[in-house]
Amino acid sequence: MEKVVSGIRPTGNLHLGNYFGAVKSFVQMQEVYKCLFFIADWHSLTTRPKPEDIQASSRTIMAEYLACGIDPHKAPIYVQSDVKETLELYLYLNMNTYLGELERVTTFKEKARKQPDNVNAGLLTYPTLMAADILQHRVNKVPVGKDQEQNMEMARRCARRFNNIYGVELFPEPQNFYFNSQALKVPGLDGSGKMGKSEGNCIYLRDDDKTISKKVMKAVTDLGPQAMNSEKPEVIENLFTFLKIVSSEETYKYFDEKWNNCTLRYGDLKKQIAEDVCKTVAPIREKILEYSANTELLDKIAKEGAEEARESASATLKEVRRIIGFRAF
Ligand code: TYM
Repeated sequence: MEKVVSGIRPTGNLHLGNYFGAVKSFVQMQEVYKCLFFIADWHSLTTRPKPEDIQASSRTIMAEYLACGIDPHKAPIYVQSDVKETLELYLYLNMNTYLGELERVTTFKEKARKQPDNVNAGLLTYPTLMAADILQHRVNKVPVGKDQEQNMEMARRCARRFNNIYGVELFPEPQNFYFNSQALKVPGLDGSGKMGKSEGNCIYLRDDDKTISKKVMKAVTDLGPQAMNSEKPEVIENLFTFLKIVSSEETYKYFDEKWNNCTLRYGDLKKQIAEDVCKTVAPIREKILEYSANTELLDKIAKEGAEEARESASATLKEVRRIIGFRAF
């Protein structure tokens, strides 16, 4: 079975953008591929989280992944810092990676601009740590969004360069992977194109019905349809995209017709969206709360996941050490 690996930084709760953009498709992916999901807690250190938050943040993502339907019997979920092999590979990859190419990575430049007082080496070598995450499992496929494409290019470069330097074919070049068309871009309801943590416009999988309704009812709109069959302005298109994601086809058609014949009332549209978002989120939220309360289970899953990940990584590292020339004394 072909292997796939995916990591997520534990920097908050999962929102609808994460769910429809990725996690929902992970649930289907685990049926077809050998998936490894991990929580990138080392990556989160670039922004110096509080020590007391580190474990709790990983447990949060773990509970949310499980609630969304990731099944640890099919796809292990592990915490990055439990697999020390990653660090060793990170070091080897860093030895073959040049300052210039790391400095050219757009996400590095953006982060450096955002936190000018803390432009640390971890930030610079974020792509080689990510490459180590991927290459240690020798996977061919990595599901990623657009913003990770440059990091993926670096991972391929690391693989190619290692193979070339030592004249081996150890690492396959991992490809960006889009598992069917399930990866949907969820718009923001505040007029911005995308739902995202940094945009501050998220509907979280933990939100209760009241919070969800409030957020949806606050969505930005305009004066309403001005002419029959007119094109929808962006903020309204965003609402309809939302409707397409969470509601049935008939519901979508119903409101689309109302738009076209100029009888649409935004209040009704928002109410419908709120109701259907709640329907999607409520069962997930209940499971999140259940899993979150069971830290014993979460820790057991993390432990078992780490064992499986270590097995896969240590097989690779054994080869890497031999190829580089390390011998036991
Ligand atoms: P991030 O936070 O951008 O995304 C978290 C995870 O969600 C998946 N993903 C997607 N998958 C398919 N289609 C999309 N449109 C989409 N958007 C997001 C990705 O699998 C991602 O893993 N730097 C990474 C975290 C990371 C990582 C890794 C990812 C660290 N090491 C190794 C993959 C492999 C990040 O910020 O992901």
